[in-house]
Amino acid sequence: MSKKLKIGLIGTGGIAVGCHMPGYASIPDQCEMVAACDVNREAATKAAEKFGIARVTTDYKELLADPEIDAVSVTTPNAFHMQPTIDALRAGKHVLCEKPLAMNADEARAMCRAAKESGKLLQVALQTRFGGPARFMRTFIDNGHLGDVYYARAWALRRRGVPHWGVFIDKEKQGGGPLIDIGVHILDFTLYLMGYPKPVAASGKTWDILGKDPTIANFWGEYDRTKFTVEDFAAGFIRFDNGAVVTLESSFMANMEGDPFQTQLFGTKAGAIVRGWGDNPVRIFKEIDRQFFELNPQNVPQVESSHTAEVQAFVRAILDGGPSPVPGEHGLILNAIFDALYKSSETGREEPIDASY
Ligand SMILES: NC(=O)c1ccc[n+]([C@@H]2O[C@H](COP(=O)([O-])OP(=O)(O)OC[C@H]3O[C@@H](n4cnc5c(N)ncnc54)[C@H](O)[C@@H]3O)[C@@H](O)[C@H]2O)c1
Repeated sequence: MSKKLKIGLIGTGGIAVGCHMPGYASIPDQCEMVAACDVNREAATKAAEKFGIARVTTDYKELLADPEIDAVSVTTPNAFHMQPTIDALRAGKHVLCEKPLAMNADEARAMCRAAKESGKLLQVALQTRFGGPARFMRTFIDNGHLGDVYYARAWALRRRGVPHWGVFIDKEKQGGGPLIDIGVHILDFTLYLMGYPKPVAASGKTWDILGKDPTIANFWGEYDRTKFTVEDFAAGFIRFDNGAVVTLESSFMANMEGDPFQTQLFGTKAGAIVRGWGDNPVRIFKEIDRQFFELNPQNVPQVESSHTAEVQAFVRAILDGGPSPVPGEHGLILNAIFDALYKSSETGREEPIDASY
């Protein structure tokens, strides 16, 4: 198929301008951005000017009414993912929706149903899978070198990293704090490497003490502590139907060393620590002839921008009529796990997980 796709953007804030738009702009032979929408006209106009987009609107339905548009990025705050996505799919557009797919599993279910009914492609923007460490590790695991991975420890931890812009500290608009915002990346990365087993139950606990404390510094910039309605730290224990377990820790603030973004996989033949990016992101732990080895792969592929790779994969999948590179179903699984963890924090019990739709 040699058709050039026409792309619309819904929400032209940080992630759109910094990642989605450069991604589309990197493949001008395959697509062109033709319309930008933001409730804030100034934001839409500025983004449109930067990327040479002719049309600007503050109403996404106006953008969706254009029959020429083939696909959209939905890059609005989490509370505004579901409706534009469903409306876009029903209008016959393919959708690349930012993470987390939705505020909760019920919303994500409705989005997956809409994708199925429309026959259009729904991709969740979980770019860590497109990075070099994920590519290397996925092949390594597929080739059997770790054996069966029965346990993983996933960390998306920041010592002092509350996003101070936008609505990241507002539970009403985000659905939660670090768990749903960055925990989503490391959990997706981990489950992707484990072959996305089916989650059955989870228990968890969240805290919101540090994020509300005005005496504590936030290295990312100041914010109004009285408006902090999300958790600052979350811990979870997730069980899967194949017997595997993942523990997950995620924070915007924590009194700890560094800001680890990594997963540790425990397999029957070997183990691994895999970081999302950086130098030497993979370490393998193995026993050979009763000796312990630590292996440091030297040529893990380098991907300049996993965001650009993700957008390119979206366009390629549409042009080739292929499946979604990151299906909505995975976004639904992640939302269903977060629902269980948040609920468990309130009930003090392990909660069942249902990611069917
Ligand atoms: N993949 C990643 O690594 C990553 C990184 C940052 C943010 N994100 C995700 O991207 C989304 C947006 O985050 P951001 O940092 O760009 O936030 P942002 O606040 O910078 O931008 C959001 C934009 O959406 C606009 N908007 C709000 N409601 C709208 C609506 N109904 N219609 C049209 N426009 C609307 C806002 O005016 C704003 O310009 C969030 O879901 C967030 O989780 C993902």
